[in-house]
This record gives sequence, structure tokens and C-alpha cells, in this order.
Amino acid sequence: MFGLFSSDKTKGAVLQRIERDEETRLRQRYDIWYRTPERQEGARVWVDGREMLMMASNDYLGLGEHPKVIAAAKAAMEKWGTSTTGARLANGSRSYHLDFEAKLATFLGKEACHVSAAGYISCMSTAATFATRGDVIVVDRNVHSSLWAGIQLSNARYERFAHNDATDLANVLEAEPESVPILLVIEGVYSMEGHICPLPELLEVAKARGSFVILDDAHGFGVMGAGRGTAAHFGKSEDVDIICGSLSKALSSTGGFVAGSRATIEYLRTHSKQTIFSAALSPAQTAAASAALDVLQEEPEHIERLWDNTRYCKGLLDSLGIDTWASQTPAMPIVIGKRERAYEVWKKLWDEGFFTVLAISPAVPPGRDLIRTAVSARHRHEDFDRFAEALSKALGTRRK
Ligand SMILES: Cc1ncc(COP(=O)(O)O)c(C=O)c1O
Repeated sequence: MFGLFSSDKTKGAVLQRIERDEETRLRQRYDIWYRTPERQEGARVWVDGREMLMMASNDYLGLGEHPKVIAAAKAAMEKWGTSTTGARLANGSRSYHLDFEAKLATFLGKEACHVSAAGYISCMSTAATFATRGDVIVVDRNVHSSLWAGIQLSNARYERFAHNDATDLANVLEAEPESVPILLVIEGVYSMEGHICPLPELLEVAKARGSFVILDDAHGFGVMGAGRGTAAHFGKSEDVDIICGSLSKALSSTGGFVAGSRATIEYLRTHSKQTIFSAALSPAQTAAASAALDVLQEEPEHIERLWDNTRYCKGLLDSLGIDTWASQTPAMPIVIGKRERAYEVWKKLWDEGFFTVLAISPAVPPGRDLIRTAVSARHRHEDFDRFAEALSKALGTRRK
């Protein structure tokens, strides 16, 4: 039925799309992303033999080289091998998953928790699983790609509200019929902007309408509320139905989590395709995250240093009149505006030995192309001094 010629032609259309893709061509030409260090020590990396200061890692607490974290990961590999080679529902579940989930749930003030191999999978699975056809998801327009992916898979209708704007949330909710189930999807700390969500105000509006609340706290977990996250920071853990997030940032591992009531987590385990059909978190990554969670509680100096560094860095950037999008957290954007100018500044920083990441629209709103930096507990004040000087030179600004 499908002749050789016609199938060649249709495959040709796909190959042409791939080979002629303008975005890929531009990405390769400018060679901005996928930069690859061959060595790392703390906040320093080496690229093509040159030492650089890492200013773009989500390594908030710098625990990836902590002796206890490394020892735990090694011991787990010795005991369990390298992989689970299967999904939790099938052959991949291990007692170390259950131990870590119980510990993490308690830490977050929730009854239960489920971990997966990536934060992206966990966060995507929340909207995808808890919402269904006939529901309405009301979502902050700046949420992360993983949540949008989940929203699209859910088959629910969605409505956006203005970023961090409780009044707009109220307006959007008012337009919805009373009988429609509502799910609110927000982040604790917005990864590009570094903004903390006004959780008490949003919850007040959402609760008045009886909404089910999903909070992605990938950048608040380990950072806010003595590490317990944004909901704990505001004393609102009980009012948030689901807290999801990542193990790859403050906990210096990889993987993700979803925490909530026992009923919600059991429902997730029954219905989430991302859980049912994806291999479980590996022994070493679970052990590293679990040990980092212990260290975070036993050694509060890491969080203290993170916030001291954040204040120091922010103070310097403010003194240079740099637009950090009013970031309140270690996620520190440097908003430039036009793409060409943002590229120029990024390149100058790179040439001066600073590893930063260029973020352009649609990852950020149009006209707000930026250089994404992040503060780590590993940085020293002198690092920020050097960075601020290079940035000021690249931008042509002077200290106030
Ligand atoms: C808000 C948010 N959610 C989810 C994720 C995904 O986490 P991971 O990188 O661990 O897959 C990220 C990662 O950048 C994020 O910023």
C-alpha cells in the first residue's frame, strides 16, 4: 500500500525538517549552550584546560563533594549495584526508596512521598496525574516547562494568571463556574526570576474557591524555610496539597519527588504514567540525596553561607545598578533585554573566565533576555567581587 517512493518522500520531509532546522543551525553557529567542562573542583570548572568560575549551577548548598554524601553514594553502589533496571511498580522498588521517601515526607511536613529519576518527571507527573478532563488548571504564566508538559498531558483546560498576582488569580477564578474542579499550579521560587511566590495571598484566594494546590518547589527546597521549602517558610505546608521538586539542586543529586497525603501519593502510584513506565531512582543518587538531606539538617552553616553569599552578591549587583529582576533568592538573573546585547555580555563574561548561561525568549518573556546566574554556598566573597567587576566592564556600568 505504501510504495517505496511515497514512504521515501514522507521520511524525507522529516529529515529535511531536521537537517534544515534554523534554530539548530544558529545554536551550533553561536555555540552558547552545551558547554562542557572536563574537570570540576567546588565552584571551579576547567573548559579546554582553562580554569573558570561556575556562576550558573543550581548547586545551592555545594554538597556534591561533601565527604558524607560521597561516602553514602559509594556505599549504596557497593550494596545495590548501579541501577534499579526497572520501574517501581514492577521490579525497580527497593527498601532504600521507602526509607528515603519516609524521611523526605516528614521533613516536608507531609504524610507520604514518591521519588522518581528526574525532577522533570516528578513535576510533570503532578499536573498530568491529578488533573483530568473537565477540570480547570489555573496556572502562573511563568511556571517551568515540566509543569506545562504535565498540563498538556492532563487533558484538563487551563487558564493562566499574571505572574505572582493574587488579584489576577481571583479574576480568573471568578470567571469559572462553581461546579468545576480547580487545580492551582505554582512555584515556590521561580527559577528564572528568583522570585518567591506570595503563597499566603495566593492560598487565600485559592482556598476561597476550594482549589487543589500543586507547588513546584525545585528552587525553594533546601533554600527557604531552613531547607524545608517555601511552604514551610510561610508556615503553610498543610494548605498545600502537593509539593513537588528536584533532588538535583540543593541536594546535589539527581531525581525528583512528589509529596502529599497518603491518598494522593497512592493515587499517583496507580495513575501516573511517568511513575509506572519509568525506571526507579538509582541507588547512588538516592543515597546521595538522603545523605545531603541529613547534612542540611546537621550542618546549618551551608544554608547560612548560601544566604550570606546571596545578600553579598545581590548588594554588589545592586550597587552597579544591574537589573536582577528583583530576585529575592540565590537564583540570580541579570536582565539585559535585547538578545544581541545579552549574547555580547555573556561572551565577554565567558572570555573573562565566568561560566554563566544565556536564557532567551521563550524561556523568558520577550525583551527580557538575560544571563542566568546562581549563588552557591561554595562561592567566596572574592568570587563575587571578581564577577561584579567583569560584569560591570561587560555592561559598561560603574559602581554607584
Ligand atoms: C521549577 C523546576 N521544576 C522542575 C525542574 C526539573 O528538575 P530536574 O532538573 O531535576 O529534572 C526544574 C529544573 O530546572 C525547575 O527549575
